[in-house]
Amino acid sequence: MNDKSSRPALADNNAIISEYDTILLGFPIWWYTAPRIINSFLENYDFDGKNIVLFATSGGSGLGNIAKELALSSPGANIQNGKMLNRRSSFDDIKKIVETL
Ligand SMILES: Cc1cc2nc3c(=O)[nH]c(=O)nc-3n(C[C@H](O)[C@H](O)[C@H](O)COP(=O)(O)O)c2cc1C
Repeated sequence: MNDKSSRPALADNNAIISEYDTILLGFPIWWYTAPRIINSFLENYDFDGKNIVLFATSGGSGLGNIAKELALSSPGANIQNGKMLNRRSSFDDIKKIVETL
């Protein structure tokens, strides 16, 4: 994580991004930002014109500037901070969040 240019390899390259307009992208917050593999993911696919809504877990910190930071890895996407999911979330909780998008 110290090396901002680090890009861990993805396990595969088979995500079918073209079929989706809005993508929910979740991760644990590490050192106030997204793990670098999230940059790998954003740089590995074409997200131009897509809406990407972030969600995250953490020990307490929030999404802060993470959407702006990740936009550098996918400048053609509309990346927005979504929700922190630090408390136990039920299916209905998640459904309500998705319905607001
Ligand atoms: C390397 C590392 C860095 C972390 N940095 C932060 C941080 O900056 N802020 C924070 O609130 N939590 C931080 N955490 C806590 C994780 O966000 C938390 O453990 C995770 O979201 C919980 O998901 P998990 O159950 O999948 O581990 C860090 C955890 C790790 C392992």
